[in-house]
Amino acid sequence: MPSKDMEIQSHYNLIQKELVQVRQVICEQFQSSDDQISSVLEVLSQQQGKMIRPAMVLLCSKLFGGIRQEHIEFSAMVELIHMASLLHDDVIDKAQLRRGQPSANALWGNTAAVLLGDFLLSRAFMLAAASECEGAATLLGQTAQVLCIGELKQNLFKGRFDLNEQDYFQMIEAKTAALFRCSCQLGAMASNAPKDQQEVSGQFGYYLGLAFQIADDLRDVLSSEKQEGKTLGTDLLQEKFTLPVIHWINQNSDQSQTSSEHEEALKDPGRLIERMRQSGSIDYALEQAKLQIERAKQSLSLLPANPSKAALLGFADNVIMDIV
Ligand code: FPP
Ligand code: MG
Repeated sequence: MPSKDMEIQSHYNLIQKELVQVRQVICEQFQSSDDQISSVLEVLSQQQGKMIRPAMVLLCSKLFGGIRQEHIEFSAMVELIHMASLLHDDVIDKAQLRRGQPSANALWGNTAAVLLGDFLLSRAFMLAAASECEGAATLLGQTAQVLCIGELKQNLFKGRFDLNEQDYFQMIEAKTAALFRCSCQLGAMASNAPKDQQEVSGQFGYYLGLAFQIADDLRDVLSSEKQEGKTLGTDLLQEKFTLPVIHWINQNSDQSQTSSEHEEALKDPGRLIERMRQSGSIDYALEQAKLQIERAKQSLSLLPANPSKAALLGFADNVIMDIV
């Protein structure tokens, strides 16, 4: 197991037993009465990820009480939505590798991958429809919609050299922070926490999600596929400009560089990374991630100290561990 994953696991100590139950519920959702479909789903179900969002539901629920079956099911729902979104995302990004294995689109083609994503999404909403927790299904539905908006924005922003940081933050807020917020809020909601505490919990998730995506975007330019187990470099290849690139373009615009000069620079990613390092753009993005982590931790500052809070704070610090 890569050291980053081991570090993540150490924050899961409090919820090990419950995460096993979440995996069981998820596996149940990968069943189909059709044998052919079942065998494909079986392959997919072996590729479960780091379970970060379920862990957020569980730890945030533990902030305000014990974990019940409802929390386990909410955890499964957010992970199913996440998995569905990644199936679609890998088609969009033309990624061939996910979680160290060939992506679904690489194995079965784009059409099957999109439909499998739809299948998982439907299963998540079937579970949500059966929940008696008021407002939960609506929150999940709204969140899935926001994810789509984020991804649509990203698509609209492709190749736009005039993109600014506000555009970037609005996009990652939708495509990533929204599901983190939802996970943390659902945990608190299902524990019957007062509304303002649900909000606090959601706020923690929101900032954590922003930090998480900035870090993910940094890894896309800096890390190796072997280390991450997924296709990297797609952001630059597809002219999806993330924070360090936006910072670098904006810095260099002052020196009256034209779009075509920027375009030229993108053709040599190795050199571009070097230039982004020299201009401080990599450090800038890292600082932004750290700022979001501090905001996330600050959100929980008024809650009493307890083991779940300590695990959440530790998890937040871990988001950029392998980049610094
Ligand atoms: C990963 O981004 C992708 C997301 C965070 C969201 C993807 C959302 C959609 C495709 C919209 C469809 C939504 C649903 C609910 C089905 P990334 O490419 O930056 O991360 P990666 O490096 O892990 O690929
Ligand atoms: Mg991707």
